[in-house]
Amino acid sequence: MRTQTVVGVLCTVVFFHLVSRMAHANAIGKCKSQVSAFQKALQGHTYDTFKVNSPDVCVKRCDKEEKCQSINFVIDESICELNKESKEARPDNYVTDPRRIYMTVKFDKGGCFKSIVILNSWSFDCMYTCMYVYTWPSGTYGLPRSKTGCPQSPHASEWQIGWRLQDTEDTYPDSRHSNSFHIDAVVLKSHVNRSFCIKHVDKVSTEAKPWPKGQYCIYKKGVCPVGLSEGFIKWDDEDTNNKNNNGGTLPDGIYDKDTRISFCCRTNGNKSDPITLPVEKPFYLLAYGSSECQKVERALGTEEYIQYDNEDSKNSDEWEGSHPFMKY
Ligand SMILES: *[C@@H]1O[C@H](CO)[C@@H](O)[C@H](O)[C@H]1NC(C)=O
Ligand SMILES: *[C@@H]1O[C@H](CO)[C@@H](O)[C@H](O)[C@H]1NC(C)=O
Repeated sequence: MRTQTVVGVLCTVVFFHLVSRMAHANAIGKCKSQVSAFQKALQGHTYDTFKVNSPDVCVKRCDKEEKCQSINFVIDESICELNKESKEARPDNYVTDPRRIYMTVKFDKGGCFKSIVILNSWSFDCMYTCMYVYTWPSGTYGLPRSKTGCPQSPHASEWQIGWRLQDTEDTYPDSRHSNSFHIDAVVLKSHVNRSFCIKHVDKVSTEAKPWPKGQYCIYKKGVCPVGLSEGFIKWDDEDTNNKNNNGGTLPDGIYDKDTRISFCCRTNGNKSDPITLPVEKPFYLLAYGSSECQKVERALGTEEYIQYDNEDSKNSDEWEGSHPFMKY
């Protein structure tokens, strides 16, 4: 019995919490620097208060919010206070406060910064490189949906969800997935139901940049984004009593008793050179050229896969153009 399998390699990209100082040494020159004031606070302009593990989380959060101008950090309780004013704007409300640290947060949105938080005599610095990219690259496209959901977006309804159930081979079925697996999918021996995140609107943000040079694929939705080339994979799904099904917004393709999905791939780069993407939430890219993952700045990639056991009889699996790496 011949078994056809298409193994798509998925790369989970997980936020890499520890920012290495050395790796970003070249970014420091471009960084703005802010220094905190120990035992100081801005009074009467706090609009949000929450507990954090360290002051740099507080600074990071402030940098992300349009409204936030400065922070107070309550030392003994590790509480972050976001202020809608700064000491420069409200010098009269800038006071001595033995329990707090104050810092004006004024970095370029999407730029890079170095924050220096001085805690008493103990000091440390936190370096964030130019990774604060809040927007996904321009164009319309799709990504595999992670169990943690679709990428975060400040623009509501930028991402839509869809799912495709593929009824794979029933005779000696062997569909399965890798041990490490974080895609929003149910993979049984004879069926695979996975979901997608589809960015269905272009340019909701003027900050959106083109997809960076590298080696990776994403799903096609509309025209391929600038610099990406097109291709497809067709899975020959089960012929007998086929139960293929789908719902929501899907990548471009043909969804009948077989599944043909179109892709857009960046092929003219080197996957060893890290690319910059928003890393606030885990996400997937599809591997191109080899099973290795495209490197992403400040993120750790893990290879994962789904094995599809496709139709055994008169198999018509097919692929053309630029498509994700697969073992066949
Ligand atoms: C497939 O998965 C999606 C997302 O988890 C779910 O909403 C849908 O009901 C599933 N479809 C079937 C037929 O089980
Ligand atoms: C990609 O970059 C790595 C490390 O920088 C290098 O070893 C490799 O030869 C490069 N590959 C190609 C195809 O240029």
